[in-house]
Amino acid sequence: MQRNAPPFEPPAWDERYTGTQSVWSGNANTQLVVEASRLTPGIALDVGCGEGGDVIWLAQQGWRVTGADFSANGLDRAARHVEEAGVTDRVDWWQVDARTFAADGRSFDLVTTHFLHPPDGGIVDVTRRLCEAVAPGGHLLVVGHAPGEAFTHLSEGHRGAMWVAEDLLPALGDGFEPLVVEQRPRTVTRNEKRMKVEDATLLARRTA
Ligand SMILES: C[S@@+](CC[C@H](N)C(=O)[O-])C[C@H]1O[C@@H](n2cnc3c(N)ncnc32)[C@H](O)[C@@H]1O
Repeated sequence: MQRNAPPFEPPAWDERYTGTQSVWSGNANTQLVVEASRLTPGIALDVGCGEGGDVIWLAQQGWRVTGADFSANGLDRAARHVEEAGVTDRVDWWQVDARTFAADGRSFDLVTTHFLHPPDGGIVDVTRRLCEAVAPGGHLLVVGHAPGEAFTHLSEGHRGAMWVAEDLLPALGDGFEPLVVEQRPRTVTRNEKRMKVEDATLLARRTA
């Protein structure tokens, strides 16, 4: 196990995903459920899929899903969870760094990413790259933590990696229509304390 790995690189995430304890709840993310429930299931890509909660939910709704992450340990865990959920036949995997993502000719009816926070404003370029993977008529859903009081305990680097939905608008290519650009309030329980957070939420549709 690599101690003090640089926080935004794969070894740090591989370390978090070592051992047997789940890092995330396993539940689908709120904004994914809200927005994807309105869409007709097709082919989806979930970038930064972590332990696979969103992948499983999408597969259960009838989507064919590619789960993508740069952490090999994360993808191993996600694959185990997908198997336990009995949806392996609807899922495949892609080990990729979102910061250098290239669609390589693949396209998806839904490209979704939740709580991916590359450093130094990198989410804008990531969003630009993910646009290329959206099929005409398809949707892009990018959700992250907006800065706020719940995160004051984090390092400057982590707080600097947070963003609001409006930051991502310059990344939308021609032919993308923004449908949702807002911070959505949500209550979470952390260390037995209830606190308010905001999900920075961008939903856009590719019209051409
Ligand atoms: C905060 S977790 C969120 C996991 C999942 N989306 C969820 O909401 O439960 C962020 C995930 O993104 C992955 N990740 C972080 N930076 C990445 C990058 N540059 N490229 C691909 N995956 C990345 C991490 O390995 C981790 O699994």
